[in-house]
Amino acid sequence: MPPLFTADSPNRVILGDNLEVAAGLPDGAFTLIYLDPPFNTGRSQARQSTTSVRSADGPIRGFKGQQYERIRGDLMSYDDSFEDYWLFLEPRLAEAWRLLADDGTLYLHLDFREAHYAKVLLDALFGRECFLNEIIWAYDYGAKSKSKWPTKHDTILVYVKNPQAYHFDSTAVDREPYMAPGLVTAEQVARGKLPTDVWWHTIVSPTGREKTGYPTQKPEGILRRIVQASSREGDWVLDFFAGSGTTGAVAAALGRRFVLVDQREESIAVIGARLARAGVKFS
Ligand SMILES: C[S@@+](CC[C@H](N)C(=O)[O-])C[C@H]1O[C@@H](n2cnc3c(N)ncnc32)[C@H](O)[C@@H]1O
Repeated sequence: MPPLFTADSPNRVILGDNLEVAAGLPDGAFTLIYLDPPFNTGRSQARQSTTSVRSADGPIRGFKGQQYERIRGDLMSYDDSFEDYWLFLEPRLAEAWRLLADDGTLYLHLDFREAHYAKVLLDALFGRECFLNEIIWAYDYGAKSKSKWPTKHDTILVYVKNPQAYHFDSTAVDREPYMAPGLVTAEQVARGKLPTDVWWHTIVSPTGREKTGYPTQKPEGILRRIVQASSREGDWVLDFFAGSGTTGAVAAALGRRFVLVDQREESIAVIGARLARAGVKFS
């Protein structure tokens, strides 16, 4: 069978379970991996997935061995619901680590329920020194709880493969307006400011140009920053929880190449239509 992907391949959109597809992709092929996994993965799916972990003596070989196993064991005995979630995600993150180039970066998009466990485990999995940022994407939309602070943010954890070699270009990132323009010079106002690790950004507008109708679609503005900062033109970008294909649409618009994977036919159809509308070629 021909390989799923080589460095000379056209952009790819692949239907299938991402753990199986990832296994067919070559080591170190991607400069940027963005993952936006579903939050509520079921027990049966989680149990099935762990059978595919490729290791003789445990899921994590080549990472932080004993330390990882101890932390993982502690967290999993502490919270059953997290155990299910992590058993689904863990082998996929291990594949992401393998697929990252030496200068590559992983962006893992989570909600507030998972982010803290995932941080501890990713520290152990990648190495604490490989943690780059916790990005808070803040929005203000929808119903608001009256019994607690309304939860209106997502968390994006950023890890690099090699802290000495990773690519990050802040000069390539679109700047944003100052919140208090009166406090800075006219020149600074004209240039705009570099985004920090807190990103105020609207959700995808229900009536806007971007809207595909796919639930959980993320805004192009969020992906745009990620792709601009952590990849160069011509680099390969991977998203194996592709959904509506936001990562591919943004990567193509910025001159990057991409591989998208999703297990739902509906996702692949939405991605196909979206990329066709944008005139993006893929196979
Ligand atoms: C939260 S959505 C991603 C949304 C995407 N970021 C966007 O902007 O449209 C998660 C996606 O992961 C896909 N998915 C879940 N489990 C998967 C698996 N094991 N293999 C491949 N795709 C999977 C779902 O079908 C869904 O489309």
